Amino acid sequence: GKVAVMFGGNSAEREVSLRSGNAVLKALTDAGVDAYGFDPKHQALTELTTSGAQRVFIVLHGRGGEDGTMQGALAQQGLPYTGSGVLGSALAMDKIRCKWLFQAQKLPTAAFAVVHSQDTDFAGLLASLGGKVMVKPANEGSSIGMSAANSAAELEQAIAAALKYDSEILVERWINGREFTVAILNGQVLPIVEMRTPRAFYDYEAKYQANSTEYLCPAPLSAEHTAMMQNTALNAFNAVGATGWGRVDIMLDQDGQHYLLEVNTVPGMTEKSLVPMAAKAAGMSFQQLVLAILTQAQK
Ligand code: DAL
Ligand code: MG
Repeated sequence: GKVAVMFGGNSAEREVSLRSGNAVLKALTDAGVDAYGFDPKHQALTELTTSGAQRVFIVLHGRGGEDGTMQGALAQQGLPYTGSGVLGSALAMDKIRCKWLFQAQKLPTAAFAVVHSQDTDFAGLLASLGGKVMVKPANEGSSIGMSAANSAAELEQAIAAALKYDSEILVERWINGREFTVAILNGQVLPIVEMRTPRAFYDYEAKYQANSTEYLCPAPLSAEHTAMMQNTALNAFNAVGATGWGRVDIMLDQDGQHYLLEVNTVPGMTEKSLVPMAAKAAGMSFQQLVLAILTQAQK
């Protein structure tokens, strides 16, 4: 049946979603699938049924699309959709509750604190987390609202910047190491991608704008580290109740310890994004990847 490719939306990651969605829509159309684009920023959900959509390919990033709200609305309409359901989507969007779950499951993740606007002991917080930290809004993507801090003044600023996006802030001990991502597709882990940037960290610019970011896939890792990280990624994905497809971000420090960052339930799908890169290393074209994800939207 007819496929609505949902992209755009009104989260802070709208621009990324437009790029992901256009690439997915083109791949589906090229494959002969009867598909059309649907932007919930401009269109009411009731238009989905009047336009004859029988299933939905969700390529919305961030709040309102990746966080379970859209998944719940589609379930109410009886429309099958790709990717995680309500619970997995909602949990994965919340970095703080994910970390609590990782800890409960004994999955490795960096030490952290949860901060709100009334918390003001920046020096004490910084000292308790080893003197250098990463500050993140609890519910954002693409590194939006994130910054590193290694002084009390920087931490105060970083928290103020993150508070523009969220009322709950995650402050994590800084991990000095390499950054990787593990894509998951229909229960299988794909080859690991390593991201290398000369910037302070793999931020929005390094992700979408800079030419200086290097990607290595399969990542140059020992067989042992590869297996360990793929196993942790799959466990984290399952722990948050994610299903179908997604991407788990992981750091590896200089002592060979790995740490979960987060689970993404609607990762970027631009032609240059990480899941397509991992799929390619597994011998799968962008179009084959998109069709494999679409098979998840079954009644
Ligand atoms: N949140 C972005 C889209 C990603 O994880 O790829
Ligand atoms: Mg994310």
